Amino acid sequence: MFHSSVLVCICVLFLTVTAWARARHPQFRSIPTTVKTSENDTVLLPCYVDNLGNNIVRWWRDDKLLADSSDPNITTPARVTMFPNNTLQVEELRPEDTGEYMCQVVRPAPWNPIQQMHAIEVLYPPSVVPIPESGQVIVELGDEVKMACEASGVPHPIITWVTKGEELQLLDNRPKLRFIADNRTMAGTYECIASNGVGEPARAVIELRILYPPEVSTDRNWVHASPGIRAEISCMVTADPEAEVQWLKDSQLLEPRQHISTYHYEDKFRLLFRRVQASDFGHYMCRATNRIGTNQQTIQLSGVANPAVFKKDYKIASENNYTLIWEVDSYSPIIEYNLLFRKYHEGTRPGPWVKLIIPADGGYVPGQLHSKSYTLTGLDSSSTYEVTLLSRNVFGWSRPSSVLRFSTAGEGVEDNELVVEVETHEENKLLPAEVAAILRDQNCASMSHTNIIGILLILIMLLATH
Ligand SMILES: *[C@@H]1O[C@H](CO)[C@@H](O)[C@H](O)[C@H]1NC(C)=O
Ligand SMILES: *[C@@H]1O[C@H](CO)[C@@H](O)[C@H](O)[C@H]1NC(C)=O
Ligand SMILES: *[C@@H]1O[C@H](CO)[C@@H](O)[C@H](O)[C@H]1NC(C)=O
Ligand SMILES: *[C@@H]1O[C@H](CO)[C@@H](O)[C@H](O)[C@H]1NC(C)=O
Ligand SMILES: *[C@@H]1O[C@H](CO)[C@@H](O)[C@H](O)[C@H]1NC(C)=O
Repeated sequence: MFHSSVLVCICVLFLTVTAWARARHPQFRSIPTTVKTSENDTVLLPCYVDNLGNNIVRWWRDDKLLADSSDPNITTPARVTMFPNNTLQVEELRPEDTGEYMCQVVRPAPWNPIQQMHAIEVLYPPSVVPIPESGQVIVELGDEVKMACEASGVPHPIITWVTKGEELQLLDNRPKLRFIADNRTMAGTYECIASNGVGEPARAVIELRILYPPEVSTDRNWVHASPGIRAEISCMVTADPEAEVQWLKDSQLLEPRQHISTYHYEDKFRLLFRRVQASDFGHYMCRATNRIGTNQQTIQLSGVANPAVFKKDYKIASENNYTLIWEVDSYSPIIEYNLLFRKYHEGTRPGPWVKLIIPADGGYVPGQLHSKSYTLTGLDSSSTYEVTLLSRNVFGWSRPSSVLRFSTAGEGVEDNELVVEVETHEENKLLPAEVAAILRDQNCASMSHTNIIGILLILIMLLATH
């Protein structure tokens, strides 16, 4: 009994002493804080301690002592003040003030000091520098492009890239861009935008230039003319670096001629014939060269008529007749037309062309669009036909027109199926050999004759090649 009561007594005494000791020991009442604020602001970092007693309070930044409550003589850095209530004040904040600050309570031996960490983050608006710093990247078509933006700011900015008014869809907010310049339209301005939510986003611009071989195009690679008139052929050239453009005629560099002038405005290059001479007809080449490469376009100056153009009209179809209307543009009077037609069945091999020779009207005014019509009669009803037309003037035969496909009226053919379309697909075009064969066959208008001549021609060609 006695022993146990002594034990309880000792026990209670021990608990009381430890409680007293803990109560008497200094303890932080303030809690660790991170202060995020802007440049030039003032920040107060608290260090409120219960039971501080005579213990000393010190403020540290890394291993640098900032202030000591026991030594007012210690040289606190400029802009830093420790108040009597142990609060640390940092004024006129600068970027370099970002970091951890430690409040330390130094206790007499054998007790270790106790400490609490605070942090200041001086928010800083983003800034950005392009790489390369010149803001210019020059590559050749097909080369790899490398560009980057170096951003700073607190917190660290995220980078987005914008080109041609659109944000690049990248997997991450990468400061570096790497891609292959495989299309010259990728040239232009690349802007990187650095933002961190503080102030305005910062921007840097990089200009990408892609050097590429000349690209040569032409509106018309066949130009109709006639002796005595004015004519022009032209080509468009784009290139970087700028291309040198030459005109060639029938593969020879074009000699300077009295009646021919060359002009050049922006990317358009023109060859002007003030009065065309018969010797001017031929193939001209617009050839552009820069140090990346060479390209060209061929343009023919010709006296033959422009290919005729059929007028599309489906109201003129009846069961057995079909009226064709076409327009043709020729500076020299048209002498005659060759109208070629054949039946068309979808999915089957078309039959041979039937040729009709149509003499030109009188009253042809050279240099004007000339309209002519012709009615095909004796056609099968409810059938589809194809037709094409060639015109001849003093310089020869024009190229065939686009193929026109039309249907005759009849049972099982709805009105809307008479709609005529001009086929421009390559497979509907007459082959040059086909045209030559038809034109050679001047006196032959019947289907059977055309067949025989066609077969003979093929046989002759086969024999010639063996
Ligand atoms: C901070 O003060 C400096 C000097 O007065 C000034 O140049 C700077 O623009 C100020 N910064 C901000 C964010 O106001
Ligand atoms: C502070 O500096 C003054 C004058 O230099 C001196 O008299 C005083 O003793 C110093 N106090 C402490 C705590 O060192
Ligand atoms: C500590 O002192 C500073 C300066 O006098 C004062 O601004 C701050 O409010 C004080 N803090 C407390 C908790 O009294
Ligand atoms: C280049 O890009 C343009 C525009 O995006 C596109 O129309 C063109 O087809 C591209 N050219 C090639 C060769 O890929
Ligand atoms: C079709 O042609 C024939 C003979 O030329 C003519 O008699 C007939 O009236 C024409 N029909 C139509 C609808 O044009």
